[in-house]
Amino acid sequence: MRKVKFGVIGAGHIGKRHMEMIRRNEAFDLVAFSDLKSPEECFVDAGLPYFSDYRDLLKAHPELDVVCICTPNGLHASQAVDAIQADCHVVIEKPMALTRADGEEVLHAALSKGKQVFCVMQNRYSPPSIWLRDVIQNGTIGAIHMVQVQCFWNRDDRYYGKSPWKGTQDLDGGTLFTQFSHFIDLMYWIFGDIHKIQSRFADFTHQQNTDFEDSGLISFEFVKHDALGVFNFSTAVANQNFESSVTVIGEHGTVKVGGQYMNEVET
Ligand SMILES: NC(=O)c1ccc[n+]([C@@H]2O[C@H](COP(=O)([O-])OP(=O)(O)OC[C@H]3O[C@@H](n4cnc5c(N)ncnc54)[C@H](O)[C@@H]3O)[C@@H](O)[C@H]2O)c1
Repeated sequence: MRKVKFGVIGAGHIGKRHMEMIRRNEAFDLVAFSDLKSPEECFVDAGLPYFSDYRDLLKAHPELDVVCICTPNGLHASQAVDAIQADCHVVIEKPMALTRADGEEVLHAALSKGKQVFCVMQNRYSPPSIWLRDVIQNGTIGAIHMVQVQCFWNRDDRYYGKSPWKGTQDLDGGTLFTQFSHFIDLMYWIFGDIHKIQSRFADFTHQQNTDFEDSGLISFEFVKHDALGVFNFSTAVANQNFESSVTVIGEHGTVKVGGQYMNEVET
């Protein structure tokens, strides 16, 4: 059987995880990778074909089926469009893009070329998330009245000091992209679209190490439910992550999926 041929763009922390997962699957073939840094600097074995410019990788390997985009956030959309134009499906690390226009450009390119776009949102596969979605969709707690998402994490110099792109407006984009897009995705996945959005933001402890605010209070209504929602977030929590949770108040009961990583269920 012909193996599915993968290329990987960006061989940092997450790109190397993609490489490892591709290598572990017998139906997959890891063909080549690209990074601005050398294979030695990336700690990738020298035997794998390497390109410092991802466009050269796409040109040199027209046989690729799938390209994994594992670079800083602000590069995802343009690199994904280039990979799609080179006739590849794309796996894009979250977030897919930093603007709606860029996201739509990726989807437009994919639809024009008949290619698949898969954005990595692994929290959708966690048992508590699947359980919560089932509870809501089966109507177990009846009509939904209120949804509260709380994301309270620590991100300080220990984190922002490690990668030059983290904390920048153009390549990172902000905490709602880099830290909390998984929770925004879960909210949309379970409850659908929102509107009537109001928000307040503040920067408590990150004036020196990021271009953006670290905390926010966002309120809204759900389009498909007669329900109110809030999404409160902060990376200004002292010392360590505190909580990521979704609490749902329904007609017949209240449920909370919580813990540090939404790994505990309370009813
Ligand atoms: N799914 C998740 O839970 C999860 C977790 C962590 C990170 N991520 C995402 O993965 C992506 C990468 O994050 P990371 O933590 O691996 O960062 P990282 O800094 O460790 O790696 C990024 C790599 O991209 C390379 N790079 C930069 N510009 C490039 C270019 N033009 N062409 C090729 N390579 C280039 C850098 O040299 C670096 O090696 C980010 O979008 C991040 O949001 C997702």
